[in-house]
Amino acid sequence: MYGHANNKRGRKTFLKSEFYDNPDEMSPLGAERDAVRHSETRKLLAHSFSETALSEQVSMIQEHIDLFMKQVDRFGSRNEGIDVDEWFNWLTFDIIGDMAFGESFHAVETAKTNPQVTMLVNILYTGSIFSIFRRMPYLLPLAPFMLPIGKLKREREEHIEFSRTLMRKRIEKGNNRVDFFGHLLTSNDKQPSEEFLRTNASSLLIAGSETTATTLAGVTYFILERPECLRALQQEVRLAFKSVEEIDHVSTRDLPYLGAVIKEGLRIFIPLPINVPRVSPGAVVDGNYVPEGTIVSGHQFTLGHSSRYFTDPESFHPERWLPSDHNLYDTRYASDTLKASQPFLIGPRTCLGKNLAYMEMRIILSKLVFLFNWEAMQSLGPGREVDWARDCRTQFLWAKPRFNVRVRAKLQIYVHDVIVTTFAFAEDNIPPLTLCSWSAVLLRLIVQSPKPN
Ligand code: HEM
Repeated sequence: MYGHANNKRGRKTFLKSEFYDNPDEMSPLGAERDAVRHSETRKLLAHSFSETALSEQVSMIQEHIDLFMKQVDRFGSRNEGIDVDEWFNWLTFDIIGDMAFGESFHAVETAKTNPQVTMLVNILYTGSIFSIFRRMPYLLPLAPFMLPIGKLKREREEHIEFSRTLMRKRIEKGNNRVDFFGHLLTSNDKQPSEEFLRTNASSLLIAGSETTATTLAGVTYFILERPECLRALQQEVRLAFKSVEEIDHVSTRDLPYLGAVIKEGLRIFIPLPINVPRVSPGAVVDGNYVPEGTIVSGHQFTLGHSSRYFTDPESFHPERWLPSDHNLYDTRYASDTLKASQPFLIGPRTCLGKNLAYMEMRIILSKLVFLFNWEAMQSLGPGREVDWARDCRTQFLWAKPRFNVRVRAKLQIYVHDVIVTTFAFAEDNIPPLTLCSWSAVLLRLIVQSPKPN
């Protein structure tokens, strides 16, 4: 259904259904239903998403991630910790804002959600509700009673205006900047129209941020729920690097446990939980003839959670993704059909941002576990306050529960351990006055301990 057409085998393309129609005059890449126009647009945009092009953009990504680490250290060490979903969203929106529009939203810096971001998520959610009305047009007269249509229309117009202003500013900067559209700004007649750039930038903003942030939030929950996974990840990362500066898109590529954690996160908590529908061209699917015009889809969440393909599918087990020579490999998962989990889809409409998503997730998770110890602020054990599987709801994207995590920087952990050991020793062996001067020295050590960079 999702694969490439194959003339020799008589396999035709299943095109995207009218679910993807939108009121804009031009469709962004992900919503383009026409195969020819889609392939032309994809060729234009694909350049920026190759491994080579991304390594040119990685310093921009790293700057955002490093600022994020500083803020996590500052806010995450407070008693209440930080809401991980909110913070990961801020980070990924800032990154994509910079890469698509040439400007960050400064959400991480200001620790505040940009209203445009909330608006975009609302627009997407409403779009999915309208697709229900499209399928059941007799319900349409009820729409004004069920949805704040006027407000939604205003928000949409506001977002278009906002993104248009940003895109104009980006175009003015020309092709000196290395980002998603730099290579397209040729200032000759081959340069795509402002509307093409704007609509694709807007769509990349949501396609490239919510998904990655959601995966990171899910992974954080699941490795805190299974602390032995967090320990294994910490051990792998802390043994691989001597300093945080060594952590980048290349050095994290071959860390097997990190890779396994991300893949398992994507399997158990696929960030795009909806069906992605296609129209049958009249073809045989899995031995059954599906007549032309029938809307079909393979539900990725169901596939990833099926015991037909995965042992113990409802639990988080990164071990299933490890190579058989890894010391944590577990033969229990040897018969898993790993390719049944396809969070980025396959075929001509496969995710364009897969390399970027992996790159971001690898660097962010590595830096987080390298620099900090994590602690869940809500109980995840029996009678749990947060249960990801129970509390997440699908609203086109996932609506997630509040889940706070507190962090302690590695250096503080070290100093803390030294203090505890020292005091245990001192209590038995050292006169009280010497103990006081020792305490003063240790206090200074804590206050002066360097922050992560
Ligand atoms: C964990 C992260 C991500 C996941 C799981 C994911 C998943 C997907 C899926 C399932 C599709 C197909 C949707 C459909 O057919 O309706 C898709 C398409 C797409 N994604 Fe992603 N995505 C992720 C991150 C990103 C990032 C970081 C970007 C770019 C900044 C991106 C850009 C796109 C684009 C442009 C398309 C449309 C491709 C086309 O139609 O040719 N995605 N993604």
